[in-house]
Amino acid sequence: MGSFFLTTAIDYVNSRPHLGTAYEKISADVIARYHRLKGDRTWFLMGNDEHSQNVYKRALEQGKDPLAYCDEMEQVFRDVWGRLDISFDDFIRTTDRRRHFPAVQQMAQACLDRGDIYEGTYEGHYCVGCEEFKPEKDLIDGLCPVHKTRPEWICERNWFFRLSRYQQALLDLYRQQPSFIEPEMRRNEILRFVEGGLDDLSMSRAGQSWGIPLPFDPKSVVYVWFDALINYAAAVGYGWDDAQFREWWPASLHIVGKDITRFHCVIWPAMLMSAGLPLPGQIFGHGWVFFKGERMSKSLGNMVDPLDAARRFGPDPLRLYLTKEVPYGGDGDFTWERFEEKYNADLANNLGNLVNRIAAMTERYRGGRLPAPASGPLTHLAAETTAAYRQAMDRLALHDGVAAAYRLVSGANEFIAETQPWALAKDESQDARLTQVLAEASEAVRIAAVLLSPVMPTASHEIARRMGDSASASWRLDAAASWRTSGDRTVTNSGALWPRLEDKGAIHVSETPAPTPATPSPAAPAPEPVPATAPATAPATAMVEAASAVIPIDDFMKVHLKVARVLEAERVPKSKKLVRLQLDAGEATPRQILAGIAESYEPEALIGRSIVIVANLAPRMMMGMESNGMVLAASPDGGGAIVLDAEPAAPGTRVR
Ligand code: MSP
Repeated sequence: MGSFFLTTAIDYVNSRPHLGTAYEKISADVIARYHRLKGDRTWFLMGNDEHSQNVYKRALEQGKDPLAYCDEMEQVFRDVWGRLDISFDDFIRTTDRRRHFPAVQQMAQACLDRGDIYEGTYEGHYCVGCEEFKPEKDLIDGLCPVHKTRPEWICERNWFFRLSRYQQALLDLYRQQPSFIEPEMRRNEILRFVEGGLDDLSMSRAGQSWGIPLPFDPKSVVYVWFDALINYAAAVGYGWDDAQFREWWPASLHIVGKDITRFHCVIWPAMLMSAGLPLPGQIFGHGWVFFKGERMSKSLGNMVDPLDAARRFGPDPLRLYLTKEVPYGGDGDFTWERFEEKYNADLANNLGNLVNRIAAMTERYRGGRLPAPASGPLTHLAAETTAAYRQAMDRLALHDGVAAAYRLVSGANEFIAETQPWALAKDESQDARLTQVLAEASEAVRIAAVLLSPVMPTASHEIARRMGDSASASWRLDAAASWRTSGDRTVTNSGALWPRLEDKGAIHVSETPAPTPATPSPAAPAPEPVPATAPATAPATAMVEAASAVIPIDDFMKVHLKVARVLEAERVPKSKKLVRLQLDAGEATPRQILAGIAESYEPEALIGRSIVIVANLAPRMMMGMESNGMVLAASPDGGGAIVLDAEPAAPGTRVR
């Protein structure tokens, strides 16, 4: 247990947060939550950077007072971060007069007193987008390489910070404390840059009112970057609460994007050295998230709004995608197709399906109650993956941490497939074994939820609740991720967590297969049943056309559609397509239907899920078994069953 003070970059408020800025906050939130889970006293700081010329211009464009504009934007940012489940403890703004102004003025004065600030004249190309003077050699055809805009030529009397004086001290720092800059490739970039020599930094702007006045020259305001970096110290008391500052400073970790590591790894430590303050523990420069391989920008019109994903799926799937798919420190890419693909694979099919199956089978075979499991293969896997997870998370390899947790999820899925609880349930002599299998799997899933809780806080707590652990609010990693060998648990079956996103196709009814001989000869396997109506492979448009003959409502009402919950599902031997379903359709006894859906679903994946059936079809014999009804299906090839996942109605409910 220790104290952990974590920060992110503070955002310019000239536009709303987008997926790129959200990526940074999500990754930092995962780290903050991981530290809280470990029991560390954590202070997670975020905020807004408001003294930028672009912010000022945007406010004026909208006919607003700049401060009033920034107040509005604070609400926008807080709202977005809230919807993404970002658990910041503190939010600072650079217009904060109580905390930030005194801190900036005190640090400027401290650097002046140290002899590190002097007056001079500056001439150069200034890019307002970067809020930085650009050396001539960095311009491409006279344009800023980042913003592709022509910088302003500025010539003014400024105050300078003697950055050049700190070259050697910085190089010594990087060599003595290699973990000061992570990942390694960023450290190497910064080393090369500092070895090339450092110019002094213009740290004031003349003739502007939007900014913090210099205490020794109130007509000048502090340069936006010199101002912004100080937010980290200002938040915890620098310049206004010494006791608190001593308690929390230095920051343990600054999370920033790779484009602004120079400010954080070179200018910021030099400022702190000059002011005689301790240096932060580490600066981590994360990579960028691109959209279809391109930088997101307003001019390209390709800014992804993270709330689009959160509104459709809740914040967890987006948080998982960004943490699992982007190796932390490197760049990543986002496309909606890939996101949906990963949602189906990682959540609907893998974790969600696992939780569902365990809960449904425990409910069915054990009335929802399980004793603590004995040790088994999943016990070892849980211990091994937890150790790998901790190791990865401690070195900020967040993607490896998630991968370790997912090895446990996949292991539990394989365990279910191998042990086949549905088969054990048919054999009384396997009673104890079935109990152990279900208890072991549910404990493994509970531990996976503990490990995934920094990434998917909402879902993890829900999974834990379903697996009988309602104490997730007070989890501590050591105890919570340990295999529980005592205490009964109540497992709750509450429906699918993440409904599968089905392929987009015209909705149509897939007929039950035509009857085959009641008693197929063992020597000659029965032919594959064929659909009685339109072939399943007919194009979706043909389906719509065939269905377009108008019928009166009374005809429709003759068809009795009902919600049914899948109790058992297994392949029919010797058939490629048929699955035998035992369904709870709200009737006195389970109903059996044979459906041609085996090419779309692993039968077990359907257990516990709700589907819609046609309940008043005359019974038919297929492959020697009776089928009592038909399953509605919706997919272009006709093979998928409609699964009602969100909040399915009770079995037996009529669908109209
Ligand atoms: N205001 C400065 C930071 C001052 S910190 C003392 C700034 N603001 S920003 O709004 O432009 O960017 C905020 C953070 O978001 C930066 O760390 C930046 O690297 C990050 N990102 C902006 N776009 C991004 C992506 N497309 N992908 C990942 N991070 C990105 O810079």
